[in-house]
Amino acid sequence: MKALVKEKAEPGLWLVDVPEPEVGPGEVKIRVLRTGICGTDLHIRKYDDWARHTLKLPLIVGHEFSGQVVEVAPGVEDISVGDLVSGEGHIVCGKCRNCMAGRRHLCRNTVGLGVNRDGAFAEYVTLPASNVWVHRVPVDPDIAAIFDPFGNAVHTALSFPLVGEDVLITGAGPIGLMAAAVATHVGARNVVITDISDERLDLARKLGVSLALNVSRSPVDEGMRQLHLREGFDVGLEMSGNPAAVRQMIASMTHGGKIAMLGLPAEEFAIDWATVVTSMITIKGVYGREMYETWYNMSVLLEKGLDLSPVITDRFSYRDFDAAFDTAASGRTGKVILDWSGGARPESARNEPAQAEAAATMNRRGGARPESARNEPTQAEAAATMNRRGGARPESARNEPTQAEAAATMNRSA
Ligand SMILES: NC(=O)c1ccc[n+]([C@@H]2O[C@H](COP(=O)([O-])OP(=O)(O)OC[C@H]3O[C@@H](n4cnc5c(N)ncnc54)[C@H](O)[C@@H]3O)[C@@H](O)[C@H]2O)c1
Ligand SMILES: [Zn+2]
Ligand SMILES: [Zn+2]
Repeated sequence: MKALVKEKAEPGLWLVDVPEPEVGPGEVKIRVLRTGICGTDLHIRKYDDWARHTLKLPLIVGHEFSGQVVEVAPGVEDISVGDLVSGEGHIVCGKCRNCMAGRRHLCRNTVGLGVNRDGAFAEYVTLPASNVWVHRVPVDPDIAAIFDPFGNAVHTALSFPLVGEDVLITGAGPIGLMAAAVATHVGARNVVITDISDERLDLARKLGVSLALNVSRSPVDEGMRQLHLREGFDVGLEMSGNPAAVRQMIASMTHGGKIAMLGLPAEEFAIDWATVVTSMITIKGVYGREMYETWYNMSVLLEKGLDLSPVITDRFSYRDFDAAFDTAASGRTGKVILDWSGGARPESARNEPAQAEAAATMNRRGGARPESARNEPTQAEAAATMNRRGGARPESARNEPTQAEAAATMNRSA
């Protein structure tokens, strides 16, 4: 099969032929339809310091994808050949204290798809069944491909109650844009988003924010005056990783304000701690997605009409990956999607039988049991998942990259 591989310890990615992955115990094999390009993938292509210290080569990159199940290991329940799925790229150990308590997003031994093990920028990918999210409500394969960053946005945005609140989002990259769409959708009063890219702020306006502010020209205070906000923002969602943005956010919060921080700063920096203390501000770090509460939230938000389509601005065939990566690296677009559906079965790109099948599957399931998205499958999956991870693959934590590597990944990658 074709795969995008980090082959050499130098900048670049290489589209090469590699063997198809085989389904291991408890795993699912997926034919990849679409993938999303993430900042992490850009770091890997560039081969920066973080990538040099984290990756073991050769490595198939990529973690944001949607696809169709083509094979399921014996004993895996609730996932069928033909299902349209997305993948949770954080593979947890199932055995640490947090995993055992059901707080899997807090696992200390997290292994990253496309970082610590072969990823999804390929015609096929395998994943533990417990990392596979079946779309039981119809969803566009492009949107399904960005559930990973959408989940970052949802996890962050739903960290604190937003109904009726004034929300400041710093950074209008793909994740900030999706967070803005979520905050607006769930009933925030004002959603103000900042960036230094006019193109991205224009995208934010399409998503219906109250105000999209270019902070290289207008300070946040000015936006507050425009909206008649006298006491500061109730909730802040930090989505830039930029020190100036974090400082600006802290200075713009109301007393008792709450900040959820997703943005990953490149290095340490100072903030005004006296303001954090005297304004009694809560700051919460957010990493990845809650498994699988965030995934449930995402599916339900889309089911109830959240429209993410303006966030996807560019689509390329996987063969044009270099142009796609350049576009994503420009910092001026929304999400960039690679289409893999034309590879394994060249005819499918033209008439999309796979997608039609997947949609039909989803409709059948959704139709026969309209309550299914809401109730048992998720819980049953979650329970089965915990059992499978604890039981079927006790060796997995030992085989996988070391805890130090995983921890380094958690600190530096997204
Ligand atoms: N914690 C996690 O699990 C996780 C997961 C994914 C991404 N991330 C991080 O979240 C952030 C958002 O991800 P993304 O993919 O949307 O990134 P991105 O780099 O595409 O977007 C960041 C945006 O912030 C803007 N920005 C720069 N300086 C600013 C300033 N002073 N004020 C306001 N905006 C400013 C940039 O112009 C850019 O548009 C990044 O820092 C990324 O590393 C974290
Ligand atoms: Zn990502
Ligand atoms: Zn764990």
